[in-house]
Amino acid sequence: MKRILTGDRPTGPLHLGHYVGSLMNRARLQSEYETFIIVADVQTLSTNFAHPEHLPEDVRRVTLDNLSVGLDPGKVSIFIQSMVPQIAELTVIFSMFVTVNRLRHNPTIKTEAGQHGFEDNMTYGFLGYPVSQAADILFCRADLVPVGEDQMPVVEVSRFVARRFNELYGEVFPEPEGLMSETARLIGLDGQAKMSKSLGNCIYLSDTSEEVRKKLMSAVTDPARIRKDDLGHPEICTIFSYQKAFNPTEVCDIEERCRAGTIGCVACKKRMIEVIETILGPIRERRLQFEAPGMVEEILRTGTEAARQEGERTMEMVREAMHISYFQR
Ligand code: TRP
Ligand code: SF4
Repeated sequence: MKRILTGDRPTGPLHLGHYVGSLMNRARLQSEYETFIIVADVQTLSTNFAHPEHLPEDVRRVTLDNLSVGLDPGKVSIFIQSMVPQIAELTVIFSMFVTVNRLRHNPTIKTEAGQHGFEDNMTYGFLGYPVSQAADILFCRADLVPVGEDQMPVVEVSRFVARRFNELYGEVFPEPEGLMSETARLIGLDGQAKMSKSLGNCIYLSDTSEEVRKKLMSAVTDPARIRKDDLGHPEICTIFSYQKAFNPTEVCDIEERCRAGTIGCVACKKRMIEVIETILGPIRERRLQFEAPGMVEEILRTGTEAARQEGERTMEMVREAMHISYFQR
């Protein structure tokens, strides 16, 4: 079976943007691929090194988010990055042949540096996080990496690392492919380009029905629609973009009626709430099951053990290829 590796930084709850961008693909592909899900706690420190005290709770939360969308812990290994030492070992080795320029010109690094105000003053770890992410992906010799579109340039670095390693030392790694979902990104509730925790414009997988209702009812629509028979422009409406993402069977009809002024925004929003509730309802139920005491810890323990074993297999191949396997076992 081919392998998937993907995952998240534990920085807070996951939202519908993560769901359409990557989580749906994880759930869909878990039976076709041997799947590893990384909870990238060390990567969180690339921007948040001053506040490690939030990690235990955030690690638990992001694990629950993954389980709640239907990842089956019997099939999938969910593990904690810092508990797999082989990832740190590979990071050091890879960092020897990735140039600083390659990292500085990486589009994701540039964008994120801008967001954090790091342009002229970034840490070694922040600049190098694509290298560490290459180690996240390659420690288990993954073939496929389902991610949102903003992560594609980072996956590109891991493709480079795999190719370069193989060229330098011999064939060890597959060149992993990024897999972007059809809905590349989800617009925020406020109409901003992206649903993002820092912008506070998200519907979280863990939101209650009441929270979802409130958020959707107050989302921005087409400002030209004051009365319900005003002609609408769905292409500029946030709710419409969600109809496209989550309600494929009705979206054409809604578009026509919006343009013709025969559906009001309130009715349209109410329909959207129902559709999103059909997605979030089962997610909430699964979350509840996994919230039983000790369950998340056990799942992470088992997943991390599986990851370490795979990491050690990879390290043996790496040491062999690099002639640094000094002691015969
Ligand atoms: N960088 C990813 C994010 O911010 C999280 C991540 C860490 C990841 N390691 C990974 C994603 C390996 C895919 C593969 O969302
Ligand atoms: Fe948006 Fe629906 Fe209102 Fe049209 S009817 S503007 S798609 S909320």
